[in-house]
Amino acid sequence: MNRPGYHGRFGGAFLPEILVATFDQLGQAFAQAKADPSFWQEYTELMSTYSCRPTPLTPADNLSRHFGGARIFVKREDLNHTGAHKANNVMAQGLLVRRMGKTRVIAETGAGQHGVATATMAARFGFSCTVYMGEEDVERQRPNVFWMQQLGAEVVPVRDGSRTLKDAINEALRDWARNMDDTHYVLGTASGPHPYPEMVAYFQSIIGLEARKQILAQAGKLPKRVYACVGGGSNAMGIFSGFMDDDVELVGVEAGGKGLGTGMHAARLASDQGSVGVAQGYKTYFLQDDDGQMRDTHSVAAGLDYVGVSPILAHLHETGRARFESATDAEVVEALRLTMRMEGLIPALESAHAFAQAFKEAPKLGSDDVIVINQSGRGDKDIFTVADAIGDPDWERFIIKKAEAYHA
Ligand SMILES: Cc1ncc(COP(=O)(O)O)c(C=O)c1O
Repeated sequence: MNRPGYHGRFGGAFLPEILVATFDQLGQAFAQAKADPSFWQEYTELMSTYSCRPTPLTPADNLSRHFGGARIFVKREDLNHTGAHKANNVMAQGLLVRRMGKTRVIAETGAGQHGVATATMAARFGFSCTVYMGEEDVERQRPNVFWMQQLGAEVVPVRDGSRTLKDAINEALRDWARNMDDTHYVLGTASGPHPYPEMVAYFQSIIGLEARKQILAQAGKLPKRVYACVGGGSNAMGIFSGFMDDDVELVGVEAGGKGLGTGMHAARLASDQGSVGVAQGYKTYFLQDDDGQMRDTHSVAAGLDYVGVSPILAHLHETGRARFESATDAEVVEALRLTMRMEGLIPALESAHAFAQAFKEAPKLGSDDVIVINQSGRGDKDIFTVADAIGDPDWERFIIKKAEAYHA
């Protein structure tokens, strides 16, 4: 099967009729940009002057010694402006919006990271910006809401459904249907209807392109395995795409939450609880009940807490080109602690899933082997969640005092 917009049997664009013309326009703009070498040049120049690209590949020698197996390298997407790989996608979409002559952008956000990145891009390009966010996430992620607003975006709390990411996506699509003439929807991951999965994966491929060159220069060989966490799938697709045609094992790590047996996780591919369906405009594995109703998901990392997954990753799963595993909240917090102490790196809770899985496997590999972990974002932005997960009593006292000071 080789239908446009499909990856094996996954993908497609299941759209309300009112949005078909807009998606066609976007598909054409993306195809033109992809065929035009000046677009990629403009993009890499922008990222090198605005977002620390190329990001370094850091040898994690202390962790490598600690585990005594493979040599571990870390791709530093945390050093992007706004603290995560999300910047790659939004800045490229910003260039596309400018080419399409639109003046307003909208976005959905869960953890707030993509919302902050989009608000930053809008400020830089001079677009007006509205971000849809589940009401529950607005409460959980107040610091990111603060920054979006300071950057000039309007943040709209979504009160439907479970009041989280999937409800925010639905609301953003409703807005787009009303305002498609001047508005572009900046989707934050490699999921959703065609052309988003392919387009976001293409923009994020800058990670893999750099990482492949860097590992050859620094280790003199290709890695045995590449690890990335998987929410919607954009950072995984970004780094995987650099190694797709090589003899390199690609390992995606999903949120194991409180354990696969508890139902409180977001392991769509790594558990046997995901099933193929069509929702939110595309076909992939979803965590859904027998009636096709989406289940509630759970993860300590808000950015991995999503019911669907990139159709491209679903295809790589089905063909066996990539392997999918999960890490529990507890394993993730432990991996984060170890990485902070041994390397002075603070991965985002999302990224710490990739670290946790790599740590399980590194000791079983040989000392000649090399592995790469994608550090998709930085964790100091997650201070509230990390301090909660670690259960630091001094932090708790500080917050109580701060609250008392506001009350006084
Ligand atoms: C730091 C970080 N890593 C990973 C993710 C998951 O997204 P994706 O699977 O699209 O890379 C997020 C999402 O918010 C994130 O903020």
